[in-house]
Amino acid sequence: MANVGNNPASIGRLILAIESSCDDTSAAVLRGPVVLSNIVAGQQVHARYGGVVPELASRAHQENIVPVVHAALSGAGVSIHAIEAIAFTQGPGLMGSLLVGASFAKALALSLSVPMVAVDHMQAHILAHLIHDPDRTPPQFPFLCLTVSGGHTQLVLVHSALRFELLGQTLDDAAGEAFDKAAKMLGLGYPGGPLIDRYAKDGDPTRFTFARPQVPGLDMSFSGMKSSLLQLIQKETGTDAQFIEKHLPHLCASFQRAVVGYLIRKTEAAMVQTHAMHLAVAGGVSANSLLRSELGRVAEQHGWTAHIPRFEYCTDNAAMIGMAGQLLLDAGQRADQRTVPMPRMPW
Ligand code: KG4
Ligand code: ZN
Repeated sequence: MANVGNNPASIGRLILAIESSCDDTSAAVLRGPVVLSNIVAGQQVHARYGGVVPELASRAHQENIVPVVHAALSGAGVSIHAIEAIAFTQGPGLMGSLLVGASFAKALALSLSVPMVAVDHMQAHILAHLIHDPDRTPPQFPFLCLTVSGGHTQLVLVHSALRFELLGQTLDDAAGEAFDKAAKMLGLGYPGGPLIDRYAKDGDPTRFTFARPQVPGLDMSFSGMKSSLLQLIQKETGTDAQFIEKHLPHLCASFQRAVVGYLIRKTEAAMVQTHAMHLAVAGGVSANSLLRSELGRVAEQHGWTAHIPRFEYCTDNAAMIGMAGQLLLDAGQRADQRTVPMPRMPW
């Protein structure tokens, strides 16, 4: 018999994971912590509206889900009949979008007679760090995770794969939402975060300054920065209609510096307060180039180990749902046909 002990691709259960919480339809196949395929279909339909239109998102999920699951199975080189369990996103997210993934997962689990597990999308963003990666070592528990996405901004102390302690969060807009709204004000497309990141590369981050939020403790606020940008645009375009065109890279670089600087200050405070030695970042905004470099810099300065995920595991993807699903199944958790999607999760 072949020795499979040291090859993580040959151990663990074969799981199909489905993610449909917002505007990306994704399916992945994992064997234990090893990702065999991870397919993500984005939805261009929202770009012209400057934000996700929930009804259009759920319709696009319905169109995409079967081809995306097919692509994930064929990418992994496995038959659907080999699948041993199904994981799906229970929430948080858009109700219509979540319903498509959850209903599909339930019907498939029923027809294949395999167990299924419901996954918290935000916890899955964090657990993406445990995906097997020959080039990276996973964070050691307890670690601090800055989770920054389009809908959430949280500082979480991760005690174990199943125990998460929320230390602080935004009181208004999420960091990704602030980027998206700023991009909209600047006449850029959606999602705005990657566009601001791109234009910022050619700009001077010290050219403009924005309101610095005064929120005590580890909670955060981004709406003041956003209003401060709006006021600047309104004031300057009053005298120069070309203001945005002339200063776009500087506006992007300065706004990005304000958001990232604030995130870093709060994260640093949380690390010092908790005495954690491992620092991780998760969620779509962790794709931001300045945030990635600043986290690395601050970690080096303090002697902490920074964990920055691969780009494909930063934004929404089903591989992270599969990773979280494996851990929940190992802990004995199961969903059943009565499990319902939850636009807001209880923590
Ligand atoms: O985690 P995610 O893919 O979806 C949610 O669960 O919300 O995060 C999406 C968010 C969007 O607000 C998007 O603008 C932001 O992540 N984002 C970025 C970058 N890439 C994605 N924000 C700043 N810089 C980026 N490079
Ligand atoms: Zn997300």
